[in-house]
Amino acid sequence: MLVDEVAFLLRPRREGWIIDGTVGMGGHAEALLATTSGDVRLLGLDVDPEALARAGPRLARFGGRVTLVRSSFRHVADTARAHQADPVVGVLLDLGVSSYQIEESGRGFSFEGDQPLDMRLDPRQALTAEHLLNEAPEADLARMLAELGDERHARRIARVIVRSRPLRTTADLVAAVKRAVPRAAWSRHRHVATRTFQAVRLAVNDEPAALRQALPEAARLLAPGARLAVISFHSGEDRIVKRAFRDLDASGFTALEPSPLGPGDDEVRANPRARSGKLRVLERER
Ligand SMILES: C[S@@+](CC[C@H](N)C(=O)[O-])C[C@H]1O[C@@H](n2cnc3c(N)ncnc32)[C@H](O)[C@@H]1O
Repeated sequence: MLVDEVAFLLRPRREGWIIDGTVGMGGHAEALLATTSGDVRLLGLDVDPEALARAGPRLARFGGRVTLVRSSFRHVADTARAHQADPVVGVLLDLGVSSYQIEESGRGFSFEGDQPLDMRLDPRQALTAEHLLNEAPEADLARMLAELGDERHARRIARVIVRSRPLRTTADLVAAVKRAVPRAAWSRHRHVATRTFQAVRLAVNDEPAALRQALPEAARLLAPGARLAVISFHSGEDRIVKRAFRDLDASGFTALEPSPLGPGDDEVRANPRARSGKLRVLERER
């Protein structure tokens, strides 16, 4: 299982803090705390207050070992400093959205059902998917779908979105994508709107930029011998991680091989979302 693998790869060699930059529902955090001793503490970040409200009770049994903060991993160094998380003996970023956010949040992350076009991870943020889809120029939408969704039909979809304005709900967006993509090109394995929803979510939350900013910051927080583990779910994110690790490679860090490590068959059976999960691990030299 990826969770056990991550806990094993991040096992600290000394006392200190593990930073979980995407604590979500606390699954990885729980494994990290359960497999380490009391002198290892966890600083858990998330931009979604509902995620923290779920992680809190799940991690309550670890008492004072856990500090949860509503903050973006984009500011991981400032947050670590503010909470005196030092030395940092491990950092985890498990990117994307949680199953709770997709299935229960009602924020329009899923192409199933019909929900408002929100897609904000942080409800304090002003920009929503509805605003983006109804206001962005067609060329910007096309670029966004191509770059963040690897969508082959980006230009056609952008054109139909603009013609379908105003879009109000996820069903409006699904309908626009279905009109734009020729039926013969619909995949049997993946919903035709999957890439569009991914691209819109990444754009609304500025996820690639947050990741680019966080990776070198997180790496520099590491104590000697400590590791940064990043789990990504699509090729665009994995490319960012790969490049950042390569850039850091010559300056006191080493990427563990093989890189990336994929999920095991058992995990894919238990959790189909794990199918495209890629784990990369960077170690600070001793
Ligand atoms: C895949 S889930 C993490 C699941 C978690 N590892 C678990 O075991 O429950 C990703 C989480 O990262 C959060 N997130 C996304 N971007 C973030 C950012 N820039 N800063 C902090 N949290 C972020 C999301 O709100 C979501 O809760």
